[in-house]
Amino acid sequence: MTIETSVLARYSAGAHSVQADLCCPVDYDRSLLALLPQEIIDKDYGCGDPSRYVKTDDIVLDLGSGSGKICYMAAQLVGDGGKVIGVDMNDDMLALARKY
Ligand SMILES: C[S@@+](CC[C@H](N)C(=O)[O-])C[C@H]1O[C@@H](n2cnc3c(N)ncnc32)[C@H](O)[C@@H]1O
Repeated sequence: MTIETSVLARYSAGAHSVQADLCCPVDYDRSLLALLPQEIIDKDYGCGDPSRYVKTDDIVLDLGSGSGKICYMAAQLVGDGGKVIGVDMNDDMLALARKY
């Protein structure tokens, strides 16, 4: 198994069921989580909240966007004049992000 296939397998497992040990405990701005589906929150394995750096009309690129939690949070901050782009190598994670 290569590093790439190992990372793919690990995050595919996380897209299908919640993997508690894949998650870093991070405090997010709860006001930006209120609109998010619970599944996106439960299956997010992020390690930091960059939302304080995001401003109205920004164009945000999330490389390794996973379940899309940061994208959904950033979309609320950039507003109609901004744009948020999520990129991920894992089709299972992309399917989860697109589900909602
Ligand atoms: C820990 S999650 C981060 C999710 C989100 N960005 C956050 O901070 O909450 C990491 C994601 O990065 C993706 N990833 C890892 N290496 C990648 C690569 N080389 N190219 C694209 N995506 C990658 C994984 O598939 C996984 O969904």
